[in-house]
Amino acid sequence: ALARKTQSISTTANMSEENSGNLKKQLSKLFEASLRETVPSVLDVEPLVAACTAKFGDYQCNNAMSLWSKIKGKTTDFKGPPAVGQAIMRNLPSSEMIESCSVAGPGFVNVVLSKTWLAEKIQKMLIDGIDTWAPKISINRAVVDFSSPNIAKEMHVGHLRSTIIGDTLARMLEFSKVDVLRRNHVGDWGTQFGMLIEFLFEKFPNFKDVNETAVGDLQAFYKASKQRFDADPAFKEKAQKAVVRLQGGEPKYRQAWAQICDISRKEFDKVYQRLGVHLEEKGESFYNPFIPGVLEGLSNQGLVEESEGARVIFIEGINIPLIVVKSDGGYNYASTDLTALWYRLNEEKADWIIYVTDVGQQQHFDMVFKAAKRAGWLPANGSMFPKASHVGFGLVLGDDGKRFRTRASDVVRLVDLLDEAKTRSKAALVERGKAEEWTEEELEQTAEAIGYGAIKYADLKNNRLTNYTFSYDQMLNDKGNTAVYLLYAHARICSIIRKSGKDVEELKKTGVLVLGHPDERALGLHLLQFAETVEEACTNLLPNVLCEYLYNLSEYFTKFYSNCQVVGSAEETSRLLLCEATAVVMRKCFFLLGIVPVYKI
Ligand code: ARG
Repeated sequence: ALARKTQSISTTANMSEENSGNLKKQLSKLFEASLRETVPSVLDVEPLVAACTAKFGDYQCNNAMSLWSKIKGKTTDFKGPPAVGQAIMRNLPSSEMIESCSVAGPGFVNVVLSKTWLAEKIQKMLIDGIDTWAPKISINRAVVDFSSPNIAKEMHVGHLRSTIIGDTLARMLEFSKVDVLRRNHVGDWGTQFGMLIEFLFEKFPNFKDVNETAVGDLQAFYKASKQRFDADPAFKEKAQKAVVRLQGGEPKYRQAWAQICDISRKEFDKVYQRLGVHLEEKGESFYNPFIPGVLEGLSNQGLVEESEGARVIFIEGINIPLIVVKSDGGYNYASTDLTALWYRLNEEKADWIIYVTDVGQQQHFDMVFKAAKRAGWLPANGSMFPKASHVGFGLVLGDDGKRFRTRASDVVRLVDLLDEAKTRSKAALVERGKAEEWTEEELEQTAEAIGYGAIKYADLKNNRLTNYTFSYDQMLNDKGNTAVYLLYAHARICSIIRKSGKDVEELKKTGVLVLGHPDERALGLHLLQFAETVEEACTNLLPNVLCEYLYNLSEYFTKFYSNCQVVGSAEETSRLLLCEATAVVMRKCFFLLGIVPVYKI
């Protein structure tokens, strides 16, 4: 029954083709038409369109060679790949977006886009808004499972990475009009609670007094209770019984559990609040009541087997099975994740379920997803929807190349980390004389935007799978590929516009944007590549792709600004519009990366 129910929602949603802002897709459509005309006999040919790396054009179509190998010997129409390329070029439908085409080497068709068309598109975006350049992803709902710290244990930098990366992915999907369920899958269930609850009863016989000030540091509380657990067999036994009483739903135990969770939650919320990250908690405990039913379904399908006293699911190609019921009869991390996946697919009707954790958990998710495929919950073809994706990330390292820690303790308190970044960026602003120029509030807000932005950007700019070194000096440098540099670049553009004394809203309506200078054209083209870049970053779950785009954007702007006079020039109106478009796109990038923009420096 489980399987059938899932199949009915497994629509084969695909990334939609029509997209007004996406240059690559628009060109692909033109080439698709040309390919159908050029080789009517070959039906399954997808247009291969990519941005040019060489100077021959802006985009190129790379189909000629592979097409030639398909038709060679079967036709006398062409003499080789270059001739196929020529035909593809000839058969291209006429379009305002293309200025000229040429064929190079073994049939590459190079396209130079019309700068009039490019300019019109940018101006249209300025009027209609940047949301018209949002990717179109034809799925309805996604679950992003991120952050997900464990109650009473430390929330460490790994959770910070998950929080930052997950938030960006959620933002990109939301921008693409996908309904996103931002799930905090907190570790709020498990055997550690027996120990914590008994320790709580010992410390607070009258446990109505329990609150965060009384308990103090939950991590220390966890450590102390663990010590007690390891040292005293009688306590250990009580703790083990407490787990059973908690899971059996005994009110006193449930209440103590809820109180411990609440104290933890308040700690986590401080971090989320600072980072401006919104999450909805559905912790492990939430799925607990559903586990027996889900496992029964899987058993009825014959997927659950007995192995060394445990109940397991065997996965093809992996020599260890997925344990779903431990030999003592208890459930584990996998039972919960399997059930959560079932719930998200069947109850929440999610088309795409994304898990953001360290790469160390890759095998766990691989096994859970494969089990779900065996059960028929997910299609066997992993690129089809509904789909589950694990977004893994590497370690955060300290200066010593080892796992990042502070000297005082072996864990890094995330709030302290954020405070430090803010303090340092504030000091840098004061050094620039901003304390005299700005109000205290402006100083605080800017320091916060820069400090937190710097931490986020330093994390997001690397390919998430690689480890990176945490360095305040690096991330707060105002030169190079940092948030500080980018935020300043944006503020500078805003100040150019302000100093012109012109009303940009008015210019949008009355002025005309022209891309006359080569540096204007290069900047304009890059602006228009925003849509395809966000779509790539979003569909491949790679925030670094967007960071790279943003950095290049500010480089293109710098080149334009140093070679083209804006204020007071004959082209002032057009160039101010180009400045405004750059600022708009930059701000959208910041927004998607969870960074608060700065308007003046
Ligand atoms: N609580 C886990 C940890 O700290 C992360 C949970 C990730 N999400 C999930 N559905 N397993 O490692």
